[in-house]
Amino acid sequence: MEFDIIARCFPQSGRAASGDHCGGVNLRVPMALDLTIEKLVYGGEGLSRVDGEVVFTPFVLPGEVVQVAPPASKKHAQRASLLRVTEPSQHRVEPCCAIFGQCGGCHYQHVDYPAQLRFKRGILAETLHRGAKIEFEEGRISVISGDAWGYRNRAQFHIENGKVGYRQMRSQKLIPASECPISSPKINEALARLNRMVKDRRWPKFVTSLEVFTDETQVQWNVQEATQPVAKHFFEWLEREVPGTVPGSLDYEVNGDIFSIAGNSFFQVNRSLVGCLADLAIGEAAGTTAWDLYAGAGLFSVPLARKFGKVTAVESGRAADDLQRNTQRAGLEVESIRQNSEAFLIEANDAPEFVLADPPRAGLGATAVTRLLELGPLKIVIVACDPATLARDLAGLKDRYEIERLAMVDLFPQTFHIETIVALARKD
Ligand SMILES: C[S@@+](CC[C@H](N)C(=O)[O-])C[C@H]1O[C@@H](n2cnc3c(N)ncnc32)[C@H](O)[C@@H]1O
Repeated sequence: MEFDIIARCFPQSGRAASGDHCGGVNLRVPMALDLTIEKLVYGGEGLSRVDGEVVFTPFVLPGEVVQVAPPASKKHAQRASLLRVTEPSQHRVEPCCAIFGQCGGCHYQHVDYPAQLRFKRGILAETLHRGAKIEFEEGRISVISGDAWGYRNRAQFHIENGKVGYRQMRSQKLIPASECPISSPKINEALARLNRMVKDRRWPKFVTSLEVFTDETQVQWNVQEATQPVAKHFFEWLEREVPGTVPGSLDYEVNGDIFSIAGNSFFQVNRSLVGCLADLAIGEAAGTTAWDLYAGAGLFSVPLARKFGKVTAVESGRAADDLQRNTQRAGLEVESIRQNSEAFLIEANDAPEFVLADPPRAGLGATAVTRLLELGPLKIVIVACDPATLARDLAGLKDRYEIERLAMVDLFPQTFHIETIVALARKD
């Protein structure tokens, strides 16, 4: 792997040496800075301290001694670029992707997989401690993992000047890609075809971003960015080039149920853990009434309806139509409500026994937390994709609820992303 060596001025003090002369002006010249990495933090970078200042470096490991190009200015104070690993960790491995370090998708390919899991669990425990003053022993957090590679069922590709790829980290620059080892075989097949198609005269130049979603048999294409409406014959061309292309919704099987997913509807991206995630989120829960908030296409509503007498599912996005269709198709009675979960909670008078909430990265937020506290369901399970917003929500809930179960489900191997399931029980 190669890292860009960024030559920038580094006007701060610290261990960076200085002192080149240029036209009579004494310029401080960028020098490599030696750092010892203390720990990994949420976001994928390693933290070190230099003269009391915190510096973050990507693609490193705790305990490593590395050389970095120092941060460019106070404005970017925290972020250095890795130049060289002087003393590597025993957990350092060779990344398997040719564009790792350039592409914005992966952050941990240089870390062996068991160590990735341990580091993520540690980050989760620390985030809950810092953000919510929750002391949950790291060893009590269960860790569930599936395939470390080839797990993604969805990918978004960008297209520029006859090239297909991903965006560079924190930039709009296109990094051309010919394969993607965290994506499924079918996505890689689609990527290979796309690489040929974008060089063809027939490629509509105004299509600059395309998403592919697959269950390995069917393939759904969603145009994400185009400056003009895309003609039908473009999709017909995709259909001929990529076997399995479906014109509309894709039927995805999970734990024996079929979920119809329309274009641009949310669906879990880890094909090896999607069923396990649903099982773990619901756990032993059963009873008379349950709510599934932020329900998507009904991944949790369907199994919940087999364990509770009455289930209400709330979804505000496109997936609301899928939700209704999927619960009906399973022959289950679920009250599907197309609404914001916050508005639903404000209008609700009585709490069910069980609430399952799987919000987007922003988390539940103050309104939902306040209403859940007021309504007081016996059990709440939160499925969270951002530990920081989860910590904030738990800080609000912890006076009335205690953690019964905490699990980290590694839905995003090779990346810093952390998926958490927290089962809460009312204290009183
Ligand atoms: C992380 S996904 C979870 C979906 C589903 N639980 C699953 O596992 O497939 C979050 C879902 O919440 C929906 N959503 C976002 N904001 C919402 C809100 N304020 N109220 C209700 N649904 C919302 C999104 O459209 C998305 O389908």
